[in-house]
Amino acid sequence: TIDFALRRAANIHRQAVDVTKAARAAAKAQRPALLWFTGLSGAGKSTIANLVEKRLFALGHHTYLLDGDNVRHGLNRDLGFTAADRVENIRRVAETAKLMVDAGLITLASFISPFRAERQLARDLLAEGEFVEVFVDAPLGVVEARDPKGLYAQARAGRIPNFTGIDSPYEPPAAPELHLETHRRSADELADEVVTYLDRAGFLY
Ligand code: PPS
Repeated sequence: TIDFALRRAANIHRQAVDVTKAARAAAKAQRPALLWFTGLSGAGKSTIANLVEKRLFALGHHTYLLDGDNVRHGLNRDLGFTAADRVENIRRVAETAKLMVDAGLITLASFISPFRAERQLARDLLAEGEFVEVFVDAPLGVVEARDPKGLYAQARAGRIPNFTGIDSPYEPPAAPELHLETHRRSADELADEVVTYLDRAGFLY
């Protein structure tokens, strides 16, 4: 039960390690960060996160991309799309991403992550300045018209319950570090904008 887990955690202490996060990252000529891509299904999160990772990799940076569809086939295969399952999905992903940031990586996470409170929880897990929230934005009408996986049509037909934007809420970020409007600009331009932001903010050297 949860009680049992809490009692056990109370008896577990943190172990100090000698090789620090900063040292691991310096070996890769970068400052570690967590780029958190949030937005509706079909808004372009995975496309842009992939392009950003490709550009960073080409520049010699060490990255890792965590993506909703992939993580849900492994670590989170036991979770569905109820509000409680989405909360647990994001909690696990945020903890996993934190480990990767500790390893010195520029980590990219691409999840709908519809609730502000969970995105804040992810931000709070990281050190000041390490969390970069990237709002991948397009109006519902646009993503529904794109419908790359045919999921909106199925949701409208009542075949997928709790579908984000249809019968499950999406809370847009109030103050994201980056706001990308994918109905106005190309994925390539927007990926460049993310890399430029990282460079100017001192994550790449
Ligand atoms: S969440 O809300 O952050 O836990 O979702 P995430 O882990 O990113 O998974 C979203 C992908 O799962 C598919 N899918 C659904 N999305 C939203 N609502 C429902 N009910 C649903 N069922 C399946 C969908 O392909 C999402 O992928 P993306 O890449 O966002 O289109």
